[in-house]
Amino acid sequence: MKSLFTSIMKKFEGYAIGIMMKYLKDPEIISFAGGLPSSDVFPVDLIQKAAEKSLKENSDHVLQYSPIPGEKELMQAIIEYLKTDNIKIEPENIIITTSGQHGIDLIGRLFLEPKDAIAIDLPTFGGALAAFEMEDAQYIAMEIEEDGSDIKGMEAGIENLINQGKMPKFIYVVPDFQNPSGITMSLEKRHALLTLSEKYSIPLVEDSPYRELRYRGKHLPSIYSLDRNRGNVIGLYTFSKILCPGIRVGFNIGPPEVIEKFTFIKGANILNTPKLNQDICTAFLREYDLDAHFKKAVAYYTEKLNFFLEAMEENFPSDMGVNWTKPEGGLFLWVKVPEEINTLELFYTAIEEKVAFVPGHVFYPEGYRKYNTMRINFSFPTMEEIVEGVKRLSSVVKRYKAKKKK
Ligand SMILES: Cc1ncc(COP(=O)(O)O)c(C=O)c1O
Repeated sequence: MKSLFTSIMKKFEGYAIGIMMKYLKDPEIISFAGGLPSSDVFPVDLIQKAAEKSLKENSDHVLQYSPIPGEKELMQAIIEYLKTDNIKIEPENIIITTSGQHGIDLIGRLFLEPKDAIAIDLPTFGGALAAFEMEDAQYIAMEIEEDGSDIKGMEAGIENLINQGKMPKFIYVVPDFQNPSGITMSLEKRHALLTLSEKYSIPLVEDSPYRELRYRGKHLPSIYSLDRNRGNVIGLYTFSKILCPGIRVGFNIGPPEVIEKFTFIKGANILNTPKLNQDICTAFLREYDLDAHFKKAVAYYTEKLNFFLEAMEENFPSDMGVNWTKPEGGLFLWVKVPEEINTLELFYTAIEEKVAFVPGHVFYPEGYRKYNTMRINFSFPTMEEIVEGVKRLSSVVKRYKAKKKK
């Protein structure tokens, strides 16, 4: 049957991290690979109560098909919630998605024709690359800087494309504690990126799953709020990291004409998001003490991050030539190892030594790949696993280097 697959699907090999996960089944492996929030901060009681209430009071509707754009109550609760982040939107500016990945997929389907270009940071979120690969996207791709996107480089790339008679379809960024690098875009760059998108009339897609998870430094305005609803920015959000990923609920915000098309696409691909899960999110926003919840999550992750950074300092002395980011929030560290180390090869050795990470090349599109980086998730492993896992990682790197020298 393979010969009948579309040409894009013949090439498409799936989400690279998903493929790596099959190597992690051994329970003895300490995994720094997943993008998992810790189940220690899931509000299980609230979820249980909300689910029971929803089923008891409304089982006919809860178990039925529900409106494609999403539940009105949830949309209204989100509109109120976003006001606390200086974002003022109306119901026509929002669609409920079946999580962040679905939100990204809608973007790709709406804007991309084969070989259309997108401006991105290198590295960038691998799930977004997978979704855009399904549309056969091409890239203007610039190495991310310590304070976010290389905007001058992006502009040069856009000009270059314009000279070839083409225009990028959108700019995709994760400004807050980027997955995978942990880097946060500075306020100056948020303004500059918005100016760039306005200058060339290129929509700016701001993917923000981690905004609430800031452990230090100053809270920065979202690019969406800086745009003041002028219609240049599309915001992507998910409940995965602030509530729990199992629920698969998120939302996209943007201009009404974009949201309307998203709704048409959603109707054609997944139809509706489960009402039960939406009701749980509504209860989370309306009935839960959000400040207390975020405070608890932030305290929990701050401790983990600091502990992880200490373990890295202890196990990777400077003469090893290994560097890592010190993120202000989110769930990830980005580690650079010396050029002679190929982290894809290192991954297989690490698995044998019962420790895992994500090789960094999966966060680069084909043609731009670098093989001396890795993404480390610090939020999921226990403290004991962090101590032992970082030790194992360091010895794997040392042994790999020694083997290369022979
Ligand atoms: C930047 C970014 N966008 C989107 C997603 C997808 O989120 P979800 O789990 O809600 O599909 C993730 C998940 O890791 C992410 O890091």
